[in-house]
Amino acid sequence: CRVLVLISGNGSNLQAIIDHSHPKANYQVVGVISNKADAYGLSRAADAAIETSCISSVSGESREAYDERLMAAIDNYQPDLIVLAGFMRILSNALVEKYEGKMLNVHPSLLPRHTGLHTHQKAIDAGDDEHGASVHFVIPKLDAGPVVLQAKVPVFEDDSAELLAARVHEQEHAIYPLVVKWFAQGRLSMQKGQALLDGEIL
Ligand code: GRF
Repeated sequence: CRVLVLISGNGSNLQAIIDHSHPKANYQVVGVISNKADAYGLSRAADAAIETSCISSVSGESREAYDERLMAAIDNYQPDLIVLAGFMRILSNALVEKYEGKMLNVHPSLLPRHTGLHTHQKAIDAGDDEHGASVHFVIPKLDAGPVVLQAKVPVFEDDSAELLAARVHEQEHAIYPLVVKWFAQGRLSMQKGQALLDGEIL
């Protein structure tokens, strides 16, 4: 299974996905695309001898025009699966629809709770005693695609957003490679807006 990873920054999830790739699982990361030239994840990819592309936005460019260039870059890698791992851009409907059923994202909350940004602070402010991460298929509506797998962490009374983020990140690194592996094994799909694992609705 040819996996393409899209990043904007640190790329710790990218690293986890690389570390679990072939021969441990039946997928390989064939490319990494970043919208930021200084993303540390690009160095991680280079260290693993993975091809990279940087698609920076041009000032004044529309989302649709950027996404046209992004789609061309994506198609260059002929991926079977596109993995969003901290890719900090909202994608146009045209792009999402083109790759529907073959694009995954990890979101740092227990969806449907806390969509959008600053999820760790939101969990603290809401007084949640549980927080976590969700891997989901991407659909046009932001952070709303069917969830495949979640991992929970406790929220402690004296938690800061930083401490909580670190706890959640660790869980992301465990669940994201697992979901990628399921997809690569042909066990996971999205049908009629629902995620299916081994034919069972999740
Ligand atoms: C993660 O917290 C993920 O949930 C969010 O962006 C962050 C990416 O971190 N979508 P990294 O670049 O993988 O370290």
